[in-house]
Amino acid sequence: MPEQSDHTQIPRHVAIVMDGNGRWARQRGRPRTYGHKVGSSKVHDIVEESKELGIEVLTLFAFSSENWKRPKSEVNFLMELMIQMLKKEIRKLEAKGVQLRFIGQRELLPEKLLKVIADSEARTRNNNALILQIAASYGGQWDITRAARVLAEKVAGGELLPEQIDEKTFAAELAFSDLPDADLFIRTGGELRISNFLLWQAAYAEFYFTDVLWPDFSVDEYHNALRHFSGRQRRFGQTGEQVSG
Ligand code: FPP
Repeated sequence: MPEQSDHTQIPRHVAIVMDGNGRWARQRGRPRTYGHKVGSSKVHDIVEESKELGIEVLTLFAFSSENWKRPKSEVNFLMELMIQMLKKEIRKLEAKGVQLRFIGQRELLPEKLLKVIADSEARTRNNNALILQIAASYGGQWDITRAARVLAEKVAGGELLPEQIDEKTFAAELAFSDLPDADLFIRTGGELRISNFLLWQAAYAEFYFTDVLWPDFSVDEYHNALRHFSGRQRRFGQTGEQVSG
């Protein structure tokens, strides 16, 4: 295992786009769904390592708002995979103090998945060793538009004045407004895109892109990303002198 002392700075919140499952499977002459299955088995180690390192929040992009456009058979496979994974892992997550949360447009998810989500969230709600957020049917644009609608309704109802809308009141209506924004944003699979994942909440995130396809993403690769983060100076709009001085 790599030395933990490698990392002088540990991010509070890590967000990951787990890309490349389809290509990984195709390279082996297997169906894309096989890549998702192997990819899902990698989640366990990354969750475990995050907890060990004292990361507070891990957010995984499991299914985007746009992924509904994929062939129905692949969509169904991914929904079923999430159900099976949760059923299989929930007891261990519960025992390890992991709190599970789901972010996304829940009303689009199948009833069977919603039931497992409700059960997993209820069982782990008081845990605090690590908050594991699964983004399912999630899109950053959906999140921001929904927040805008809530604020518009408050203004229309006389609860809020337009001039009271600022970064703080806006952020309070977004998903996981009680948690820190993403500090480190990792994308596997070689594409240099955000793909509508955390838009607002990645405003000051450090980005780490790797060509490694998600099913090959290991704890060692994770440490490479964390080392990259540790080496960055985060300025949040200030000058380097202001931050280090
Ligand atoms: C992107 O690879 C991956 C997905 C759309 C699904 C990721 C989901 C999992 C790994 C399951 C995780 C489940 C839980 C509960 C955390 P891609 O299909 O876009 O790959 P490609 O770019 O090679 O086509």
